[in-house]
Parts: sequence; structure tokens; C-alpha cells
Amino acid sequence: MKTIAIINLKGGVAKSTTAINMATLLAEKYGKRVLLYDNDPQGNASQFFGCYDGGEDTCGAAEVLRNDIPLRWGKHRIDIINANISLLEADNALRVSTERQDNRIKEYLQVVESEFDYCIIDNPPALLMCTINALCAADEVIIPVMLDNWALDGVETIIAQVEELKALNEGLQIAGILLTNYRKTPENEAAEKWLREKCEYRVFETQIRRSDKVTAATYYKEPLEKYSPRSAAAVTYRKFVKEYLKDDE
Ligand SMILES: Nc1ncnc2c1ncn2[C@@H]1O[C@H](COP(=O)(O)OP(=O)(O)OP(=O)(O)O)[C@@H](O)[C@H]1O
Ligand SMILES: [Mg+2]
Repeated sequence: MKTIAIINLKGGVAKSTTAINMATLLAEKYGKRVLLYDNDPQGNASQFFGCYDGGEDTCGAAEVLRNDIPLRWGKHRIDIINANISLLEADNALRVSTERQDNRIKEYLQVVESEFDYCIIDNPPALLMCTINALCAADEVIIPVMLDNWALDGVETIIAQVEELKALNEGLQIAGILLTNYRKTPENEAAEKWLREKCEYRVFETQIRRSDKVTAATYYKEPLEKYSPRSAAAVTYRKFVKEYLKDDE
């Protein structure tokens, strides 16, 4: 099983959109066995898959932090560990725990390793204990970036954090930076050129295009591939997953 953390400490850069669409494409188009792990107390991916409020006053991601066995949900041929605001409570409890704090997600994923080909972890825009746990459990990170004025600062920050985390997880790799919500404007093209030239890490060739269908698909809780397969965002998410898999296999 390969574990990929979708991460950027900057908010609203399409982490959840990428996690949802990458996970469903890997499962539905490529027949991979996928675990989508919602690691964000906002629970946006869980809302999308209709399991934000799992009918209990806790959530799967909180149970993992407590070393309990989480319930798993299923939708669009993927398995889901859900998250909601109760994850914050478990995160705070772990932060003050005297036991080892960084290996809860890793230990859980070791248990389910043989059941899945990929685990995609959607992360919050903050360095919580659960985020550190995700980086300790991951083989790779994908960093979604929206090119606006402050995006490039965000890239440096998260890359520095990932490099630091290598002290705890030696094998952690940056799979690449993914440009999201992309429009061809002179400013974006200049920022992209700068990033591709200056960044020592891979910037995926594929840019995820901006499309109004993304918000609509979220409203109807449909992966882009189902809701609007010909939209620019769906086409480019397909292209991105193909690009990703080409090097992975
Ligand atoms: N390709 C796209 N085209 C148009 N809108 C997009 C695109 N990708 C993402 N968005 C929109 O941008 C907003 C932020 O996306 P998303 O929730 O995936 O970001 P996030 O990084 O997970 O945010 P957070 O940091 O809060 O978790 C959403 O409203 C989403 O619909
Ligand atoms: Mg999100």
C-alpha cells in the first residue's frame, strides 16, 4: 500500500478536492483498492461522502488517534475513515499525552496495509498532531498549490516542514507540487515559470484547470468524473492521475 498525504498548510488550495477526485479516479477508473483517510477536523471530504456525522459523537480519525479501531465507510468503491470536529478533541488529548504521539496513524495503517493499494490522506491547513501523524505515516506528499500572491510562500513553508519531518520518517518523499484551480493569465504563467525553474522538487506537468463545475459537483456530492467528465477540471484530474501513475508503476 502506498500512502500519500495531500498537504499544504495554506487553506483553500484544493487539498480536499484533489484527495476526493484522486481517490475516486484510482478506484473507479483504475480499479485500485483505495482508503481515503479524512484527517481534517473540518471533515470536508467526509461531508462530501455523506459520513461527516457517522451517527456517533466521535469519528474514525479520532479513534485512530486514541489507538481504537475506527469504523470504515464506503462510497464510490472507496473505503473512508471519516473526520469531524471531534477529531480536535482527540488531537488535543494526544498532544498532552505522555505516551508516544507521532505514530498512531502509522500503526493503524500497518494493520490494514494488505487491504489497499493506496491510502490518500486529506489534511487540515494546520500542523496539528494528526497532521504530524499523517506525515509520519506517509510514503509521499502531494502539495496542491493555487497560484496567487502568497502561494509560493506556502510552498516553502510546507517543504521546510516535510524536510524536518524526515527526522521522524526517513523515507518521506515529496511526490510533487500540483497546480490547482489554474487559469492561464499572464500572472499565473509567470508564477508557474518561476516555480518550475526555481523549485528543486517536481512540479507535475498537469495543471488542474479552474472550472465552475467543481463547486457544483461538491454541492451534488459527485466526483467530477461522474458529475461533469468533460469539464476542464475533470479532464485535468484524469490527466494528473495518469501522470502520477506513470511514474508510480
Ligand atoms: N479546479 C477548481 N476549479 C474551481 N474551483 C475549485 C477548483 N478546485 C477547488 N476549487 C474550490 O476551491 C475551494 C477550496 O477547495 P478545497 O476545499 O478542496 O480546498 P482545501 O485546500 O481542502 O481547503 P481547506 O484548507 O479548508 O481544507 C472550494 O470551494 C472548491 O470548490
Ligand atoms: Mg480541505
